[in-house]
Formats: sequence, C-alpha cells, structure tokens
Amino acid sequence: MSDLEAAARAVLERNTRTGSLDGRTYRFSIPAAGSYPFQWFWDSCFHAVVWARFDRERAADELRSLLVWQRPDGMIPHVVFWDRSKVTVKKFWHHAESRGIPWLRAPSTSECVQPPVIAQAVERIGGAFVDEALEPLGRFYRYLARERDPDEDGLVSIVNQFESGLDYSPIFDDGVRYRNPVALFLAARRGEVVNKLLGFDLDRIFGHTDHHVEGVLFNTVHADGLAALARLARGRDDDLAAWADAQAARVTAALLERCWDERRGLFFNLRGRDEVRTTQRSIVSFLPLLLAELPRDVAARLVERLLDERTFWTPHPVPSVPRDDPSFLRRSRLGRVRFIWRGPTSMNTNWLLWQGLRRHGYEREAADLAGRSRALAERGLNEFYDPLDGTPCGATDFGWATLAVDMGGDSSLHSSQASTETMTIEPSRSMIPPPTR
Ligand code: GLC
Repeated sequence: MSDLEAAARAVLERNTRTGSLDGRTYRFSIPAAGSYPFQWFWDSCFHAVVWARFDRERAADELRSLLVWQRPDGMIPHVVFWDRSKVTVKKFWHHAESRGIPWLRAPSTSECVQPPVIAQAVERIGGAFVDEALEPLGRFYRYLARERDPDEDGLVSIVNQFESGLDYSPIFDDGVRYRNPVALFLAARRGEVVNKLLGFDLDRIFGHTDHHVEGVLFNTVHADGLAALARLARGRDDDLAAWADAQAARVTAALLERCWDERRGLFFNLRGRDEVRTTQRSIVSFLPLLLAELPRDVAARLVERLLDERTFWTPHPVPSVPRDDPSFLRRSRLGRVRFIWRGPTSMNTNWLLWQGLRRHGYEREAADLAGRSRALAERGLNEFYDPLDGTPCGATDFGWATLAVDMGGDSSLHSSQASTETMTIEPSRSMIPPPTR
C-alpha cells in the first residue's frame, strides 16, 4: 500500500461513525469532522468507491446506511442526520432543507437529492451486494425519471441549487454577478426556503417557481448511473436493464439536444419552466465527457476548451470556475465568508473528468490530470485546492479527496468484472428494511 493509500484509508477510518435505526447499527464515513458531521449521499458514494479498494464489506455498509433511508417512492435523501444533536439552529439551512423546526424538532433526513452516483458505486463494490442493492437502486433511478422530469424531455430537475452538489456555484447566480456576501447567501438559500413553504410538494415547486434547474452535471451522472444500472441488472432483472439502457440513451440525447451550445463548444444548464439555457462557464460544462456515447467531435471540442491554460487548465486543474471569470474566487472567500464551488479544484469532479477523458481515448491528458490530482492529495486530503498554487483549502481530512488513490492506471472504467467475485455477506444484513420515521 502506498503512503497516499494509507493516508486515504486512515481518513476514511477516522471519519467513520455509527448510527442506529430499528435496533440495527450502521456505519459510514462523514465528509469531515467539524464542518460536515452527518452522512451525505454523494460523498458516501465516493467513499464507497475508495472503500471498495480496501474492504468491500465496509464499502457495502457505507451504502447500506444510505439505502435504509430510502422512501417508498424511491427517493434517497441527500443528508442523513444520524446524530440529530448536531443539527443546530445556527446552521439553519439544515432546517430549511428538511422538515426540521428550529428549537422544536431536529430532522432525521433532508428532503433533497444529490447527483445519483450510487449505481457506479455499487458496480465498484460488485459481488453479492449487487443482488442486495439492485431493487432499491432501480426504485431510486425510476423515482428520478418519474418525479423529477415533469416536462418529460428526459432531463431530470433539481429543485434547489444545493441538490446540485455545487452549492454556491455561479451557474446559479442567474446573471447577477454577486460581490456582496449577504446578497449571494440570500439569493442562494431562497429556493430552499420557498420549497419548504410549498411543503416540498414537487407539483407546486415545478408549477409555481423558476428556481428549478435541469443540470448538466446531475444529468450526466444520472445517464452514467443508468448505464451502470443496466449493466448490473442484465441477467438479474432484464426489464430493469432494458429500461435503464433506454433511459440512459434518452438522457444523453436530451443533453446533446438541449444543453450543448454548438457555438461556444460547452454544455450549459437549463433554468426554470422556460428552460432558459444559462451562459456561465464552469466545471459542469465538461462533465458530459463521462458519457461514452458522446460524439467524438463534441468530446474533442470539450477537451480543447478544457486544456486552455487561460481558463480551466490552471497549474492545479480543474477549477470549478475558469480563472478569467469575474466570479472566480481562488480560495472560496468573499470577504470573510466562505462560498464554495466558485473557483477551487475539487477531487470528485477531477475523478469524474479523469474517467471521461479515458473513455474518449485521451489517455495522456487523463494521466496528466491523475498525476496532478495525486500531487495535490499528497499535500493534504482537503475539500478543495487553490487552482493556481495548489494550496489545500476548505475542510481538512476530507472524505472524497481520497478518490485521488483511485486515479491510477489500474482501476477499471467500469469494474463490472468485480461482480463475478464473491463477497461474504451476513444473512441478517442482506435485506434492507424499509425506513421508519
Ligand atoms: C457541500 C458540497 C456538497 C457536499 C457536502 C458535504 O455542501 O457542495 O457537494 O456533498 O458539502 O461534503
């Protein structure tokens, strides 16, 4: 085991917490002690990918502790507040994104989703866990297709910007260049509060508001997840496999048709009921590289834009916002307030892009990105990195920074071959009980 792998494992171990539900104990890694004391959905999927390298059973447990909170309609919440004593009034957004009531009721989970990278994580774990997870996975992706695509164009919607996983990204600034922390904070949180006032009722949110977004990152991860789901389901549930395959193709086609800006050579989000195509450049513009079906010429144009040193190919790539953009904040700070996803480099998006580059045959560029990412991780396993000088910033001992260890030449693009290996699962654990609240 390399030093970096040992450090990665140690962080995931240190961040491990347990929680109880219905008399059973679950274990998972929190993103970072202090700032992120709960379980987050896509963080846990990334943790599971890395755990799968060290301990498959531990990786499966990481996802079991999410799946146990799945709702009957298939939704899986983006935060599980296992330790409810840590939901404070000061961090009021945990109440805004859930059914919590300050001072009166701490929530168990949020009412939001996050980019659906769970099928990819299950595929990495493989073995008998696939049989265990397949039904809930199918229900989750069907929920997204059924409940989150009211105009039935194939693209699923997020109903507030924090569902994107990219909290304060300027792609949500709506054309206003916020330089004032108060204005930026209020504008960003507004959608959550409105959703709560609407009782988190999706019909009302889609019918009466414009802050919902058909996001490029979310839909790319969704299409990639559906493709993974189809591979997992083949031979186990062929109807599900056929549905997931068709759905993956539909999402990919819709991304190309509606989000691809031919003139600018980038993908952009669609906002609101009128599906206004936004224009803010950011890391999300490149995510469709992850899709194997992306036409070669589209991939080539994306790679050309990605490698531009004046914008995205900084000394420590890939920044979440191009360095020449007026909203770019190299260490996430506006005055004394921290606004994330407005410049610094993050390991999870690098990991996704690294896979995308490899899928389209850009091996040299992928190896370059992997090398630079590992070099960043060697300086500290942090939430973000300054894209200009590589200084680690944000939370320390951060869970998904460990993805750097997966960015070697040795990990397969889709590790479906893992599913042929066997894994021991205790019988009592092989069933995921329905959640009770
Ligand atoms: C921030 C990130 C989000 C992540 C969470 C926990 O909210 O924007 O993507 O899941 O922190 O790490």
